Amino acid sequence: METGIDLQHRTATCGELGTGQENCEVILTGWIHRIRDHGGVVFLDLRDRYGLTQVVFHAERSPQSYQRAKELRPETVVGIAGTVVRRGPENVNKALPTGKIEVKANRIEIFNHSETLPFPLEGQDLAGEELRLKYRYLDLRRPVYQKIFSLRHRVTLAIRNYLDALKFLEIETPTLTKSTPEGSREYLVPSRVNPGRFYSLPQSPQLFKQILMIAGFDRYFQLARCYRDEDLRSDRQPEFTQIDMEMAFVSPEQLFEILEGLMEMVFRTVGQEIQPPYLRIDFEEAMQRYGTDKPDLRFGMEIHDLTSLATGSEWPEMRQAVEQGKSVRGIAVEGKAGLSRKQVDELVEFCRERGASRLFWLPWKEEGLQGPLVRKLGEAGARGILERVGARPGDGFLFVAEEGRLASRVLGALRLELAEQWNLRKGKTGRMLWVLNFPLFERSEESGGLTACHHPFTAPHPDDLPKLKTAPETVRAQAYDLVLDGEEIGGGSIRIHDRQVQETIFGILGISPQQAEHKFGFLLQALRFGAPPHGGIALGLDRIIAILSGAKSLREVIAFPKTSRACCLMTGSPSQVDPAQLEELHVIVKPTRKGPG
Ligand code: AMO
Repeated sequence: METGIDLQHRTATCGELGTGQENCEVILTGWIHRIRDHGGVVFLDLRDRYGLTQVVFHAERSPQSYQRAKELRPETVVGIAGTVVRRGPENVNKALPTGKIEVKANRIEIFNHSETLPFPLEGQDLAGEELRLKYRYLDLRRPVYQKIFSLRHRVTLAIRNYLDALKFLEIETPTLTKSTPEGSREYLVPSRVNPGRFYSLPQSPQLFKQILMIAGFDRYFQLARCYRDEDLRSDRQPEFTQIDMEMAFVSPEQLFEILEGLMEMVFRTVGQEIQPPYLRIDFEEAMQRYGTDKPDLRFGMEIHDLTSLATGSEWPEMRQAVEQGKSVRGIAVEGKAGLSRKQVDELVEFCRERGASRLFWLPWKEEGLQGPLVRKLGEAGARGILERVGARPGDGFLFVAEEGRLASRVLGALRLELAEQWNLRKGKTGRMLWVLNFPLFERSEESGGLTACHHPFTAPHPDDLPKLKTAPETVRAQAYDLVLDGEEIGGGSIRIHDRQVQETIFGILGISPQQAEHKFGFLLQALRFGAPPHGGIALGLDRIIAILSGAKSLREVIAFPKTSRACCLMTGSPSQVDPAQLEELHVIVKPTRKGPG
């Protein structure tokens, strides 16, 4: 049986053999995926990251190997030497790229055994996510993940090449840095050698990339790891990767062109397509038509504003709402006149939970206009509304009468909910779009003061500069978001390169000169020494990979992700540490009744 060949050194992968290699002697390595004993013949599917190959052990041909193979269990790691043979036509497996051949084994070497897995890697019923995250290395063995991470690799490689060709330099910036709040919470790291002082992990390399422009690097990029201690959802991770870019002497138009080219190239890299030209929409218009600044254009159901029509309504409730400054807005739903009472009640409840006092339902039944709302609005009034929103018999109209922003927000959420319930997105890839002309500031619900919509380094629209001091809330930002399929996949802006403007903005945000000096002194200093005009953007790499691979959650496209409670179930982080370590770091932990969860 011994041939003297080292079976660790494979001569082929499990995904590449075909009839072209018939009669070749090969060595394959991998994991035993499945094993079937047909008495005298053992079939074994050998798996590696490239695919599966059927290996056959005949008792007659090589009795020792047959004996050993018989006793193997799934997930044992082996090396196999054998001959490639063509399968008979009746045995061809069309579902497998290697399905036309099998390898007749003459030797097997066992590199390692495996205990019974805590969950099967195959089958319809996947184990619960918590268990799979705990044994992430096993879950990652599944072909679906092998594909996702190979896609992720190809995309990042292609991005590097694309940007390199455009003269971008990849420069790393620190991940132990200074605390500079950008709207969400930071992770802090105590310094052992500087008692009582902390680094922060960057929420983004924003200030460093701006300073790289001042340093003359002109075009920078980085696949930057960012950290945000914020409430997590399926589209957010505490630790994620940005394709972070910055350019000196750049206009938004130039930047859009580079980014559009980049996204087209990324889609092409994985055999998909996006259709140029990209759409562009103003923030205000997006809010009005879709109730969100990241509209999903894979389906219609735009929001209609009927406030002007409601002014003359027969129904006093509508007129009063308008007199109180409320807006009457709603969504036409095609072919849904037959929604049941229960379905409508559920939608009403959905809107109530999001702050709307009521949701009205105006169906246009095939047999004519009828129902309590028609009696209130009058038949002409009801018909007027339905015709205005483009409805026809068989359709219906769902609407609210609320303060403008609330109406938009509720209807934006309702629009997404209906698309989900009625499966309107399935199989569709939407158009990429830029959302432009965001306001520079928004009012904080907590403090009542102004906060930056993007971040405090975003340049105001040049036409709005005179309004900075008099009407700051109406000032537009030179900021832009890139949106696909209802996801914000990137955001950026032209930056402030003028120290005085930067100081003015800090002032409006309620950051005193002392605080500004303390937090951002290094930036203000750098702005004194010939800062070029510059701008940039950061794309969410994880979100892009999720879209490209059809993943539902960012957890699927990050090798070792965190749960919604920011825990890594495999390593058990975050964890308590040795008191001696805390002592050395000069950190005292206050006892808390809340466990680590
Ligand atoms: P912003 O905060 O908009 O901009 O982030 C840029 C993009 O990063 C992605 N993203 C996330 N992805 C996963 N998990 C998260 N928690 C998360 N947070 C953000 C999104 C988002 O569009 N410094 C600026 C960029 C700039 O102005 O150049 C910034 O970080 O896809």
